[in-house]
Amino acid sequence: MTESKSLPWWKEAVVYQIYPRSFQDSDGDGVGDLKGITDRLDYLKELGIDVIWLSPVYRSPNADNGYDISDYRAIQEEFGGMEDFDRLLEKAHGLGIRIMMDLVVNHTSDEHFWFAESRKGKDNPYRDYYIWREGRAGGPPNDWKASFGGSAWEYDEITGMYYLHSFHKKQPDLNWENEAVRHAVYDMMRWWFDKGIDGFRMDVISMISKDWRYFDRHPKDGSLWEFSVNGPRVHEFLQEMNKEVLSRYDCITVGETAGVTIEEAKRYAGETGGELNMVFQFEHVCLGDGRFGKWNDTPVDLREFKAVMGKWQTLLAGKAWNSLYLGNHDQPRSVSRFGDDRPEYRELSAKMLALCLHFMQGTPYIYQGEELGMTNPYFERLEDYRDVESLNAYRELTEAGLVDGKDMLRYIGQKSRDNARTPMQWDAGENAGFTGGTPWIGLNPNYGQVNAEVQRRDPDSVFHFYRKLIRLRKEHEIIIRGSFRDLSPEDESVYAYEREYRGKRVRVLCNFTDRTVPCEWKLLDSERLLIQNRENTEKTLLPYEALAFWV
Ligand code: GLC
Repeated sequence: MTESKSLPWWKEAVVYQIYPRSFQDSDGDGVGDLKGITDRLDYLKELGIDVIWLSPVYRSPNADNGYDISDYRAIQEEFGGMEDFDRLLEKAHGLGIRIMMDLVVNHTSDEHFWFAESRKGKDNPYRDYYIWREGRAGGPPNDWKASFGGSAWEYDEITGMYYLHSFHKKQPDLNWENEAVRHAVYDMMRWWFDKGIDGFRMDVISMISKDWRYFDRHPKDGSLWEFSVNGPRVHEFLQEMNKEVLSRYDCITVGETAGVTIEEAKRYAGETGGELNMVFQFEHVCLGDGRFGKWNDTPVDLREFKAVMGKWQTLLAGKAWNSLYLGNHDQPRSVSRFGDDRPEYRELSAKMLALCLHFMQGTPYIYQGEELGMTNPYFERLEDYRDVESLNAYRELTEAGLVDGKDMLRYIGQKSRDNARTPMQWDAGENAGFTGGTPWIGLNPNYGQVNAEVQRRDPDSVFHFYRKLIRLRKEHEIIIRGSFRDLSPEDESVYAYEREYRGKRVRVLCNFTDRTVPCEWKLLDSERLLIQNRENTEKTLLPYEALAFWV
């Protein structure tokens, strides 16, 4: 980097998300674990990433794969013990890789000690750690709906009252209005920082302050978003958390903020600090949502995609920092959704998407296997799915006669969170090298072709393309600092944009279709080329062609 003012390290970093259950099993129980991750750190070093975001590894009864935590200071037994965590942290740090933990504090598991106490009686000291209300007319307090289906209220016999759960009934919401809850959370965060971790990805953090004005109103679609997203005290709470914890450590923080707008993002992640470093916005992954939310198979419209991405690029510039992602453990595989996962186009379109995203401004997040172009598995039977969200949605929508079972299975094939949760494909051997036992969820049958071993050996692979993108980001500060301009927002096939910094410009051209299209934006000068995913010396873009060059 040149003489310009230095940036906080997390603006220059590339993050890699690990979903521990599905990354690498080391003891043959079919479930990934911490030792497995430690054994694979060299692979991540080779890829060139700077930070690992670990999806939850805390003790959990697994109603929602670890997002229901019963002990924040213990490791999930299937994943190993605290010694395994310490070893992972030490080895990662030794390799210059930082570790960001998942902070799930909108809710705990109903098996957490706090909740076990809370439900015991109205006078219990932990009663107010959760949100309890009296029922009405023999039913729940109001018609708020949970994110995983059904009422957001669960009746508890012991005291004859209802508790709030924005997600599964085994995930009761914490009461952030209670100062004791907040300070218990801050204590726990400091405990992890003092252990040496480098940051937190904050699960559904936009939901911690409920908006009680909605208590008696009929929510628009019965959903939980109105009462729970960007609530009245959320910024106050995060400022307090910043003061009490985050400001005391050199750390990376990213908030998962469903329902975040540009204006809200500037508050959560403003340049002046005070809350978080950045947020995950959801607009591009919600494109095409319809009557049944995400359950459909509507293809993504490129113009809408560009409008969303461009808006975040330009309106946050200089005001707040972006995070860049196309996939994670809650989303389908990015190549299946935004690219083309047919065998002949899989690699090309995976590289095209990577280039498109990694040349934007913000901190890029790679979801495990995305760097190999892993695809949705398209399971044929409902029994193959594990995810509580998919299974509940199938039941609710088919039982209500709203969606036909076959259609629903197709929608799940496109959108289920399990699409991202099939085991990491390491090699062509048994169970793709993921486990010596029976994997907790089926493998994608294409692991013979799509796997890390093959790609590490092939300089033209998706894996090596990602390595190059990561390297370029470190070599050229224009990628981190440059301004952004969409060259052709109306074009239905091509994403063409430019970055500009100190009088220099980089142009990025990405063909999002399986057709060859003419392209006036293209300069045919190999000296200017930074990266491309296929050779083509014509002023056209071949199917899924993508390149970046100096202009
Ligand atoms: C977030 C997580 C998701 C989880 C939910 C409830 O959206 O990413 O996996 O189910 O929060 O914790």
